[in-house]
Order: sequence, then structure tokens, then C-alpha cells
Amino acid sequence: MSLLECRQVSKIFGALTALDHADLSVKPNEFHGLIGPNGSGKSTLLKCIAGAEIPTSGSVLLSGVDITGLTPAERAEAGLSLKFQITAVLAELSVYDNVLLAQQSQSSWLSLMRSRSRGALHERVMDTLQRFKLADRADDIAGTLSHGQQQWLEIAMALAREPKLLLLDEPTAGMSPQERRATGELLAPMRERCSLLIVEHDLDFIRDICDSLTVLDQGQIVASGRTQDVQEDERVKSAYLSHA
Ligand SMILES: Nc1ncnc2c1ncn2[C@@H]1O[C@H](COP(=O)(O)OP(=O)(O)O)[C@@H](O)[C@H]1O
Ligand SMILES: [Mg+2]
Repeated sequence: MSLLECRQVSKIFGALTALDHADLSVKPNEFHGLIGPNGSGKSTLLKCIAGAEIPTSGSVLLSGVDITGLTPAERAEAGLSLKFQITAVLAELSVYDNVLLAQQSQSSWLSLMRSRSRGALHERVMDTLQRFKLADRADDIAGTLSHGQQQWLEIAMALAREPKLLLLDEPTAGMSPQERRATGELLAPMRERCSLLIVEHDLDFIRDICDSLTVLDQGQIVASGRTQDVQEDERVKSAYLSHA
């Protein structure tokens, strides 16, 4: 069964149809890329999945359960995590405290007051920081991290809630080629823990990490399937890849 299913999702802003009957499905532990020209509706689709926008029509299912009417918080509870294009890092807090806050939002106050669970929480924060190569920056103020490291911190925060599906909107925007490569390496081991739906301009990056690929053009899905097959689809080449 699909982990995520979007059925005929449309989003209309005034006179503009940002999404036009979009179907999309993501399986458990699948890495799925979402590409398309600027303004083709990629961010709108992620927002409809995460609950930041409500579709004008159509439905979103997670593990077969209709979540179309749920709030973003209820969706997070159901296993969704979204990192927006805009940064969510609290720049004045330490790197450690940013991850701690993200992780605490999952624990009850009562469990936090017990020292044993505080110790466990500390271990989880450090484990997360290690996985994202940020352990040696734990005590530094988040605002002093490089752009790439801030993106990793945000991904670490999005993963702190142990989601079933992580949504990333252009995580490598503004990164150096080295940071981009490192991001691919950081994301790859996540496959054992969750699925990924990622908007990305860098096609090489998508080819490296995604099993499947969906192409949006003017709010419509023009192709969706295995990355290899979609790349060779003639309509995709003419709609997107030729002037990408
Ligand atoms: N809140 C909004 N109000 C009005 N128009 C919007 C809003 N959000 C997005 N749009 C429009 O919807 C279209 C799709 O936007 P978006 O999903 O951000 O595209 P992408 O992420 O593929 O670049 C664009 O034409 C954009 O201007
Ligand atoms: Mg966008």
C-alpha cells in the first residue's frame, strides 16, 4: 500500500489554477523527487500534503487514512514532517537547543521532568547532531552556522519527530556543490527510517538519491514513475528538461 496518496488534488488561487487534478503516490521507504519549472505548483503540492494549504478539491491520504481535513499539527502527529523553503531555525539559540526543542515537542512535560527521560532526550539530540555532522557545533549559536549547515539543522529538526514521510522543498538551494553532495550523503541513510518527497532543481542530485520522479508543469502532472523511465519520457524532455 502507498504511504502517501494524493488523489486529484486541485488548488485554485483566485483566477489561477496552481494545481490541476494532481495524482501522486509515495511508497514506504521510497525517495521521490518532484520537479518542474518555476510556478508549476511544486510548493503548493507539498503544502497541500502538509496542511499549510487546503486543496480546493481532491484528497490526501496517509497510510490509507484521509487526512485532507486535518490541521498541520494533526498531520505531524500522523507522521508528516515538512521543511519549508524559508528557514525555521531559531538563530539566537544554540544548535543543540534547536534540535532539543524540535524533539521536545514530541514528549510530554511529565516525561521531560523525569531525569531518566532527560538523559534519553540528550542522547537522541546528540545522535541526531552526529548524523548531520553538527555534533562539534552543538554549543554554537545556530545563526553562526553556514547556510548549508543551517539547512542540515533544519532537516535534523524535521526528522526529530521521527516522521513516516519527510517533505523537503529545495533543501540544496544556495548550497555549494560540496554541500550539495554532502546533503545527498546525509539523506541516503534515512531511507531505512522514512520516505522522502523532495522538490529539487538539481537533476543530478535527484538522479543520485530518488527511486521515482514526478514532473509538474502548469499545475498538471506530466509524468510520474521510476526516475530512469521518467527522464526518458519525450513529453518530459520537451516540457522541462530541454530548458532546465
Ligand atoms: N498563496 C498564494 N496566493 C496566490 N497565488 C499563489 C499562492 N501560492 C502560490 N501561488 C501561485 O501558484 C503557482 C504555483 O506556485 P508554487 O507552488 O509556489 O510553484 P513552484 O513551487 O513550482 O515554483 C504560482 O503561479 C504562484 O504564484
Ligand atoms: Mg517552490
